[in-house]
Amino acid sequence: MNHAATTDMADAPVLDEDPFSDENIANPYPLFERMREMGPAVFVAPHGYYAVTRHAEAGIVASDHTRFTVEGGVGMSDIRKPGAWRTRSPISEIDPPEHTRVRAALQKILSPLVVKTWKDKFAQRAEEIAEQAVARGRIDGVADITEAFVLEVFPAVLGIDVPPERIKLTGELNFNQLGPNNERVARTLRRAAPIMDWYQQVLQRDHMRPGGFAEKIYEAEDAGDFDAGTAPLHVRSFFRAGVDTTIAGIGSTLKLLSEHPEQLALVKANPTLLKSAFEEALRMESPAQVMFRTTTGEVELGGVRLRADTKVGYHMGAANRDPRQWEDPDRYDVTRQTAGVHRAFGVGAHVCIGQMISRLEAESILGALIRRVQRIEPAGEARWRPVNTLRTLDVLPLTLVAG
Ligand code: HEM
Repeated sequence: MNHAATTDMADAPVLDEDPFSDENIANPYPLFERMREMGPAVFVAPHGYYAVTRHAEAGIVASDHTRFTVEGGVGMSDIRKPGAWRTRSPISEIDPPEHTRVRAALQKILSPLVVKTWKDKFAQRAEEIAEQAVARGRIDGVADITEAFVLEVFPAVLGIDVPPERIKLTGELNFNQLGPNNERVARTLRRAAPIMDWYQQVLQRDHMRPGGFAEKIYEAEDAGDFDAGTAPLHVRSFFRAGVDTTIAGIGSTLKLLSEHPEQLALVKANPTLLKSAFEEALRMESPAQVMFRTTTGEVELGGVRLRADTKVGYHMGAANRDPRQWEDPDRYDVTRQTAGVHRAFGVGAHVCIGQMISRLEAESILGALIRRVQRIEPAGEARWRPVNTLRTLDVLPLTLVAG
């Protein structure tokens, strides 16, 4: 932005390695540690973007739209350029002041009072799913708990009928496309090709169930709260941002509690710790791993000069394990106070608008389960699903010991 202010500054160090290689996607933490030590921003040569992996600077990139705009999209490629992979989200890809008006209208639809009315419905379904799972004893924590719960209750309150397998596939496509245009994107595009027409249709008004909050988005557009024609894009944003991330977060909480029985014992002894058990899992295994902004000119970040019109990824997965911010960051500690400090929900104007929904879902299903078990034991190797920008489990074999 201000060229005079950046002329004396160093350029960001260059990383020749690919953060999205199979090895780094499977276990991103060793590379994150090296990137944090290289500097406040690192130029990732294979993809031509700046990676920001420290907690303090990640917060700046997420929230200072004067230096880091969202108008180029929250993915790695610039949606303003020809061949964009999707149209702009009318909430997450506009800067203030326009964003402020849209966000206020959405917040009215999703007020805490509205979310509270879902509590009993969530609790009832959570009790049923937990009871069946404990009766079976040996389960897959992903399919039998997190997906069974979230894929049913969230589309129900949104008011859209979608087969679970299609939600998973379109989610995987979205979180792959937010990253580099690599083989993972090509593979998912091939698998999703037969359902892409359906995916466009299912977001249209005639597919909305009466009483869901998606229908309210269309009504708000009628009332002039949103620009004409943007309602299906709002529904898409909610649908995409709300399902896979919550599944990922609840799955990681289950995994960490199974690996740390002493932490589970703490939660059982003091159920109010369930909230922080979930937040701490979001910190340790952040579902959204990276979100992007674009420099608005030549800008400064942490004393380093960044080139104009270049993508900057804030890697919340790395920021959330930054030892500059967290003591013993690789330790899962359900007593750690992380809510509002970790970057898993972002920060600033675009901070996650659905965080209280994901908390309500997590507390419903995890609470119902934990009340019924003495122990949750690993029963085989957990497997992460290889997705460019989402840290989520494919399989989580568990034994539930009732008690
Ligand atoms: C554990 C679960 C969740 C995680 C980890 C998560 C993560 C995030 C993050 C990191 C952002 C900020 C993106 C940025 O900085 O560009 C965000 C924004 C957003 N989230 Fe979530 N999210 C979760 C659940 C949900 C749910 C349940 C909903 C739907 C109700 C939702 C809807 C949204 C929307 C619409 C935005 C855009 C807000 C804006 O731009 O003003 N999210 N989320």
